[in-house]
Amino acid sequence: MADFLELAGRRQSCRNFASKPVEHDKIVKCVEAARLAPSGCNSQPWSLVVVENPDKVKEVAESTQLMGLNAHNSKAQAFFVVVEEPAVLMKKIGQLVDSQIFAQGDLGGFALSLCLEAESLGLGTCIIGLYDRPRLRELLGIAEDRKIFIVISVGYPESDKIREKIRKPADSFVRYV
Ligand SMILES: Cc1cc2nc3c(=O)[nH]c(=O)nc-3n(C[C@H](O)[C@H](O)[C@H](O)COP(=O)(O)O)c2cc1C
Repeated sequence: MADFLELAGRRQSCRNFASKPVEHDKIVKCVEAARLAPSGCNSQPWSLVVVENPDKVKEVAESTQLMGLNAHNSKAQAFFVVVEEPAVLMKKIGQLVDSQIFAQGDLGGFALSLCLEAESLGLGTCIIGLYDRPRLRELLGIAEDRKIFIVISVGYPESDKIREKIRKPADSFVRYV
């Protein structure tokens, strides 16, 4: 059985993609891992645009390069664009809370499942929150009433060096009672 903690520790934002193309079947496996993610009332409030066409990959990369940031995306081999969709909650719950209340968390899990599957396949990913929303929307034909949640760049990492994780110590945020 794979050691999940080891996988979680190996995943890191990849900012040094190699020029090696990513096999389509690996991309499909990443999609499958995301598809299996849990969600509130199993509402699965997501859709995904997978960008593999080289011309479009180049344009998506450029749309993430704002204020001199995200230069590394020029070498990304593909992109996943995660879109928030309307959530349909159980009627009883929907009466109590806004129907999108769990959607952001659901989408986070969706994105992380995808990234961890990529990691297990030897790929590197980088979650990208900075991008030109109108440009991306137009380029990928994403409807005006849909919110782009996150972009994920993917490729083989140039190096397999794992950086030290910078994280708060557990005792600063956890209480065992
Ligand atoms: C919502 C979100 C948005 C992010 N946006 C960017 C981004 O635009 N560019 C980038 O290089 N990294 C981005 N990151 C990566 C974070 O900087 C990174 O996850 C964090 O520093 C922890 O490092 P690690 O992923 O290597 O463990 C983003 C991560 C998340 C979760």
